[in-house]
Amino acid sequence: MTLRNKQIVIAVTGGIAAYKTAQLVREVQAEGAQVRVVMTASATSFVAAKTFQALSGSPVAITDNGLFDQAGMDHITLARWADLIVIAPASANSIAKLIHGEADELLYAMCLAHEGQVAIAPAMNQQMWSNVATQENINGLRNRGFLIWGPADGAQACGEVGPGRMLEVSELLQLVLSRFENTAFAGQHIVITAGPTHEAIDPVRYIGNRSSGKMGFALAEAALAAGARVTLVAGPTEQICSPRIHVIHVETAAEMHLAVFQQLDDCDLFIACAAVADYRVANIAAEKIKKHSEHLSLELEPTEDILRDVKQAQPKLFCVGFAAETEHTIEYARDKLVRKKLDMIIANQVGSSEQGFSSDYNAVEILTADSQESIARMRKTALAPKILDAIHQQLLNRKENSNVRYLKKSHST
Ligand SMILES: Cc1cc2nc3c(=O)[nH]c(=O)nc-3n(C[C@H](O)[C@H](O)[C@H](O)COP(=O)(O)O)c2cc1C
Repeated sequence: MTLRNKQIVIAVTGGIAAYKTAQLVREVQAEGAQVRVVMTASATSFVAAKTFQALSGSPVAITDNGLFDQAGMDHITLARWADLIVIAPASANSIAKLIHGEADELLYAMCLAHEGQVAIAPAMNQQMWSNVATQENINGLRNRGFLIWGPADGAQACGEVGPGRMLEVSELLQLVLSRFENTAFAGQHIVITAGPTHEAIDPVRYIGNRSSGKMGFALAEAALAAGARVTLVAGPTEQICSPRIHVIHVETAAEMHLAVFQQLDDCDLFIACAAVADYRVANIAAEKIKKHSEHLSLELEPTEDILRDVKQAQPKLFCVGFAAETEHTIEYARDKLVRKKLDMIIANQVGSSEQGFSSDYNAVEILTADSQESIARMRKTALAPKILDAIHQQLLNRKENSNVRYLKKSHST
């Protein structure tokens, strides 16, 4: 979910397209954002505030009888709270008020008090849109840094055809997403593994581990937000993610190994975050094992070492491993970094409910051959972009070093 941790105000003015905004609220929320809805008094005659309240899960901030709650300072609170304000639909009247800096309704006062960006999705009759007054107002807002999203051309509710339709909800969603994306990994294909693997004992039992998949899924969302095309090879987990992430569901280490190798051809970065079983049962029972005797021994054999095999197959591919340890975390992680010839390893202590495996939190050490960086305990969703920043920095350093090497070489010849 690309908008996780983002706080977005969706502001509704008095236009016929207001009914579409209900869907926008849902879709922005589905991407993980917290949404608060603000309405003009006029907008409430098009769609009831209750609809938006139910959808957003929060009270709707409205101008009531020409007054807004000055004591509660809603307009200031919301202005500070919002990472982005989206006015959809934006009526001709609201556009005129914004250009003049009017503040007679909560919505306009909030926009005046907001330091960040305000996006406007105009929606009106095509003559109203083409009118010089509206055009001058909209150009003025554009020059002041407002984002003008649309309008589209086409059939209108009034029966006319022309420019003035509000953009489709899917287009508005893409524009909202684009405000929060960065381009560090634009155009790159990142393959990430996440979650545990389950190794069958018999048709009903398996050997598993406590990995929840939260860290890997958070990394996949952060990679998506950084512009990458993301393939997530996920073991059995309950996590959900943006529909724009290509998820391949697997169960066993062997299936994960195969799925990863099928993605390697155009892969630019591999992050192995899954807690892959080290061993599987050598002879999986075809039928449910019955309780016959006091003891039951299972013969185990090693599973595929996905990370080692990927690095061997593609030595130039930047490979990041995770080391989850209950003791000697740094020591074991550095050993794994060297043994598997990895480019980076993320070491984290597991075994407590405070952080690691099924927790929402983690604290890690990021190790490379010549560096070590500590990241204090924080939410995995906040940690994931930091890990990607560290990887991006390493990739930039490498590029710089190889340029220096290249320059030195060309100077010496
Ligand atoms: C049925 C109906 C539909 C309307 N549709 C629009 C519209 O799509 N766009 C627009 O700019 N104004 C439209 N208006 C006019 C606005 O509702 C009116 O200018 C109102 O004062 C806008 O209030 P607000 O900008 O404070 O929300 C419509 C009016 C009516 C009665």
